Amino acid sequence: MTPQAEVAARNDALLAWYEEHQRDLPWRRTTDPYPVLVSELMLQQTQAARVVPLFESFMERWPTVEDLASADAAEILAAWSGLGYNRRAVRLRQTARRIADEGWPTSAAGLAELPGVGPYTAGAIASISFGEAVPAVDTNLRRVISRWEGEPLEGRSLRDAAAQMVGDPAGSWNQAIMDLGASVCRPREPRCGGCPVNEWCTDPAVYTPPPRQAAFEGSRRQLRGALVRAHLAGEDLLEIGLALGRSEDEVRSAVGELDAEGLLPTREAGTVSS
Ligand code: ADE
Repeated sequence: MTPQAEVAARNDALLAWYEEHQRDLPWRRTTDPYPVLVSELMLQQTQAARVVPLFESFMERWPTVEDLASADAAEILAAWSGLGYNRRAVRLRQTARRIADEGWPTSAAGLAELPGVGPYTAGAIASISFGEAVPAVDTNLRRVISRWEGEPLEGRSLRDAAAQMVGDPAGSWNQAIMDLGASVCRPREPRCGGCPVNEWCTDPAVYTPPPRQAAFEGSRRQLRGALVRAHLAGEDLLEIGLALGRSEDEVRSAVGELDAEGLLPTREAGTVSS
């Protein structure tokens, strides 16, 4: 790996660039772990631009983790609508309940035990909110540091390399990598001319495409999303499933699955029957 002094010089340049060019995103105006947790869960499978308005209304509706812990599950799901991957909303509520009871874990290892919080999200929250010097390892960071090192890194070698490179403050370093990866060190056609750290980069051509996302049309995920929305709107689930061209068996099996996962909650006032 690159010698320590070079890593330090590269981090200085990266952090200076981030100071000037960082995207202005509402969850970056604080280090409070609650909004950081909400935003990181929303950002797991959804682009930042789509998350912004939903994040803002979510925080207005449930300003503290205690508010969220005592919130109505159906209302949370309704607020989540538009983000997709609704299981994240159920897990966020479970996590809020646990934190309201037991307080915040303050390390990445402790955070990773919370429902819906994997190693990436735990690294993001631990670094941003608790100042722990840990990387948030995702495909973005993988691509950026693989190019720095000049070879595709994965698994243990990726985690070890990232752990040794983390700058200070670690939260800014992780978010600098996210922004660099989004706007400069892009998967294809990286903009090396505008890169603040190109003098410490070994090979910008290093790139391993991520596995292809399965088609949405006709997928189980499409059906599940439609059923959750139909349930929240009080519509007939079987009718909605059949209108999507699915068999009655498939609809019934998806409904059973969603119900078991807590994704078809009845409003506490008991107004939805489907
Ligand atoms: N994607 C995941 N976490 C993010 C963050 N904190 N800022 C912007 N994009 C992100």
